[in-house]
Amino acid sequence: MMVYLNGELIDEQDAHISFDDRGFLFADGVYEVIHIYARHFFEWDRHMARLRRSITGIDLPDIDRTALTKGAEALLEQFNGEEGVLYLEITRGVQPRTHSFPSRDVPPTILMWIRPHQSFSDRMIGDGVSVITVPDDRWAKVWIKTIGLLPNVLAKEKAHKMGVFDAVFVRDGMVTEATSANILIVRQGVLQTAPVTNYILPGITREVVLEIARDQGIPTLLEPFSVEDMYAADEVFLTGTTTEVLPVTRVDGHMIGKEAGPMAVFLLRELRQKANSVS
Ligand code: PDD
Repeated sequence: MMVYLNGELIDEQDAHISFDDRGFLFADGVYEVIHIYARHFFEWDRHMARLRRSITGIDLPDIDRTALTKGAEALLEQFNGEEGVLYLEITRGVQPRTHSFPSRDVPPTILMWIRPHQSFSDRMIGDGVSVITVPDDRWAKVWIKTIGLLPNVLAKEKAHKMGVFDAVFVRDGMVTEATSANILIVRQGVLQTAPVTNYILPGITREVVLEIARDQGIPTLLEPFSVEDMYAADEVFLTGTTTEVLPVTRVDGHMIGKEAGPMAVFLLRELRQKANSVS
């Protein structure tokens, strides 16, 4: 597999990153994950806009986005699938370990790769998944898409140990998001999700799904909801780049529904149709 590392397309065997890289030492970096549908990057511009905000959020010098886009396109040319994901990571570069920033002339480390994407099976989507709730013990700048994902990793592992698909974070009684996806509920035909604050990642899929809903005349509500609201919802589902729209049919053992709800099924179909028709 070819990867992009610091401006070059090279074989993965030749891609080496220093143990002094600040991404390795401090999780001092940001990332993006972009879905490739029909050999096109889905919502490239929005991902780049969020990347720019993350870069600003950790006070990294801005990067050459034209070169980055060219690199991603070159990687895509090498990729011989229809559907995949691009992973993109930027760290504050290499310097012997010290907390303070390196001087501004230390270049960032920029890594990108594309791998095939395996969608969830129709059965999993049809049956929906189970989740648990966990305290949201992440920092207060969740809006930055940082590679420091230990709370997310630990929460996901806890879910797996309990035999369920994912964990949903709860802060002060209110639901924020899942470990790598946003969460939405449906109550009496209204699609509701937490508003964008510093406590959630502003998901691109969430945004697109909300736009689709509004275009279709589905009422939407950007208001926080509680764990009890979620237990009592008509539908619960996750949205994300790799998750797409994934129905949740059980939360902390409470049944939400026997199978995927109609809103989730509809929004998944519309999302895929939109994603596959962009040229
Ligand atoms: N995660 N919330 C969190 C905490 C996430 O990590 C993600 C994405 C999302 C959904 O955002 P988007 O729709 O833009 O993918 C919400 C990526 C896919 C990951 O970490 O692999």
